[in-house]
Amino acid sequence: MPDAYILGIESSCDETAAAVVRSGEKIISNVVFSQIGTHQPYGGVVPELASREHLKAIVPVVRKALADAGQTYQSIDALAVTQGPGLAGALLVGISYAKALAFALDKPLIAVNHLEGHIHAVLLEERQKGNHELHFPLLALVVSGGHTHLYLAEQRGAGWSYENIGHTRDDAAGEAFDKVAKLLGLGYPGGPIIEKLSPHGDPATVTFPPSQIKHRDRREKGARSEAADQPRFDFSYSGIKTAVLRYVETHNLQPSIDARRKELVGIAKPKVEDYLAHCDQRTLDLVASFQRAMVEDLVGKTLAAVRAYNAATLFVTGGVAANNELRLRFEMDAAMEGLPVYFPSRPLSTDNAAMIAAAAYPRFLAREFAPIEFSAEAGLVLR
Ligand code: KG4
Ligand code: ZN
Repeated sequence: MPDAYILGIESSCDETAAAVVRSGEKIISNVVFSQIGTHQPYGGVVPELASREHLKAIVPVVRKALADAGQTYQSIDALAVTQGPGLAGALLVGISYAKALAFALDKPLIAVNHLEGHIHAVLLEERQKGNHELHFPLLALVVSGGHTHLYLAEQRGAGWSYENIGHTRDDAAGEAFDKVAKLLGLGYPGGPIIEKLSPHGDPATVTFPPSQIKHRDRREKGARSEAADQPRFDFSYSGIKTAVLRYVETHNLQPSIDARRKELVGIAKPKVEDYLAHCDQRTLDLVASFQRAMVEDLVGKTLAAVRAYNAATLFVTGGVAANNELRLRFEMDAAMEGLPVYFPSRPLSTDNAAMIAAAAYPRFLAREFAPIEFSAEAGLVLR
């Protein structure tokens, strides 16, 4: 099989990204334009602004990905683009551009599920390191700003299929990091800020009650018949955010939060020292305790699922997988169970297009090309 160079395009949220990947196993170029600066003043992603920024960035980002790879529009073998899940308007920018390019160049176009992309970020980097050995069953935790999903992944020939065995009932883990950072006046995105501040606090100071899932998931109604009796490992993170809010109220932290917010707004790219200069010890302890509770819940539930499904390999991927405490804890606990656990490198944990180009490769081999009329699917399910 000759090498195939796939140009991946990703625009599902607040990163405009393009990359060239060779045969699903080697990153030739990887360009990510982050919109953080645009959304920061609003404390979260503003969908309309995201679409506008994608429109501005997509052409230069794709050009740079091709130039960095020493490729041209004509020399690539296929294009791949994120179809969903994500923000509909943001997805449409990438999809319209990819369709137009594919049509003009007469090249095949492959539609990719963003969540499958996160899983393939791990596969891509392991192949790149020369590790082609995988043991099944393979369990993947996709933990990001929009998702906290557990999948059993199976390889069928060149292709892959996925079974969801758990997901968040409310907020995603990354969303909880973002909301807590916002309510503490720490800005956006919350995960990297909370990670940097946590080592300065005592994680044993505040104890959060473990998340409880009482009712059956209504969204699942009628959807699962044959798998209905299999155990599920759902998550819930809206409670911990409310518990942080309660702590803020009972300890009268609001005045210092308001002051911090005002000070930090005036700093273009705050550094950890800037945050520290505006955080008292109680706030740092709260931040560290929150991160510890998130890590314990994610690791505990995932490893329970590993045991229940007798998984032989664990992948942890998505933006929150960039978190060092989470990685260390997974590594430690998985080692005790003799379970190999793999993460993407930090740059490939958060959104990028190399993972989209890698996930497209099995479909390229199977000639599973997208029809020209396909469109964005904000709630696309991974199967
Ligand atoms: O995968 P991603 O880039 O986009 C989505 O698909 O959502 O994930 C972004 C999420 C954000 O919620 C961000 O706060 C979180 O990942 N995140 C982190 C870290 N870096 C990014 N959360 C915890 N620790 C980090 N170091
Ligand atoms: Zn993502």
